[in-house]
Amino acid sequence: MPGNLGDTLDSFMLEVTSLDSSREVFERALRFAQGQVRSTVHRDPDFYPMYTEQGRWRHDKPAWTHWCDGFLPGMMWIFAKRTGSPEWMELAQRYTEPLEPRKMDRDVHDLGFIFLSTYHRWYKLTGNPDLDAIVIQAGRTLALRFKQKGRYMSSFMGPESIFIDIMANVGIIFYAALRTGDPQLMDVAMQHSLTSARVLVRGDGSSSHEGIYDLESGEFLRQSTQQGWRSDSCWARGLAWAIYGFTSAYKLVRDPRFLQTAELCADYFLQNVPANGVTPMDFDAPKEDWRDETSASAITAAGLFRLAKLSADRSKGLLYDQAARRVLLTLAQPPYLASETQGWEGILKEGIYHLNLGLGVGESVMWGEYFFVEALDRALGPV
Ligand code: GLY
Repeated sequence: MPGNLGDTLDSFMLEVTSLDSSREVFERALRFAQGQVRSTVHRDPDFYPMYTEQGRWRHDKPAWTHWCDGFLPGMMWIFAKRTGSPEWMELAQRYTEPLEPRKMDRDVHDLGFIFLSTYHRWYKLTGNPDLDAIVIQAGRTLALRFKQKGRYMSSFMGPESIFIDIMANVGIIFYAALRTGDPQLMDVAMQHSLTSARVLVRGDGSSSHEGIYDLESGEFLRQSTQQGWRSDSCWARGLAWAIYGFTSAYKLVRDPRFLQTAELCADYFLQNVPANGVTPMDFDAPKEDWRDETSASAITAAGLFRLAKLSADRSKGLLYDQAARRVLLTLAQPPYLASETQGWEGILKEGIYHLNLGLGVGESVMWGEYFFVEALDRALGPV
């Protein structure tokens, strides 16, 4: 694999602008995604899949944590917005409504994933204030995880644990704070984000998956991991959550520290990801053990498209946009797109959920599908 993505973007831009074929590739991939989701709904109505086992969504392997139910309807809302089709509107609504009780769920740190992809998209399409109230309540519930000592929201692992993943959820608290004017909600979201930038993002722009606190004193003790290679390594999906999450935080409250952190993480990605844009599961794993992790690439592409529009420096913005398109062009074709794999039920192959527990390794994963579709939607622009 020649070089890293940062080194190859100039030639890539030439390639894409001269052939102008990427739009066609993205449109084809989006049609394939709709076909796969439609087949999943027909094959197994009202089932909320999480990760495949040998390409099949239904299996009896464990969830580890219950965080993915928003992603299938989230894709349906994107399809509904792009196509205007009543079929997608009805399906999206049918798969979203059962999620409402989870606005009170205190067992997970993932309420942003569940509600921003569903009720918030539904609200944006209809303007119905009852839907907005559900999103705001989910933000209030998530904020209850805040620990005054340490100034962070704890992960589902326990009160002493902070995850970088929570950065991709904290946007729902910023949103609830802005909608209600509640200063306590704003304080929780700000403090958690600043703590994450301080203890989970390193000077070179790499990120730690987890941090551990002393509950008595509120002192930060050490970096750690659940899904990464090593406690001080850079798990690629964590980096993707950081890029996406700090970008969202900046978009909502315009604190330059969040933009700076998002760009630092994005630059680490550009300097370390292979030229085709497919991340390894962990950037610090020995090269001979590198395994592709497409969900991290899809999340990063979606995050880079958003960052590209917010960067103060226009040339940086262009770079992030090009990088997102490069990543997406790889993902949107075989062997990563499952379009040529007979019987494969997912959209995107070669995701990894939890290597250390042996869950969803080299499979389709529902968050990879959702952020891939979100990135395609952003790449194609307004309908
Ligand atoms: N938030 C859990 C994961 O990224 O696997």
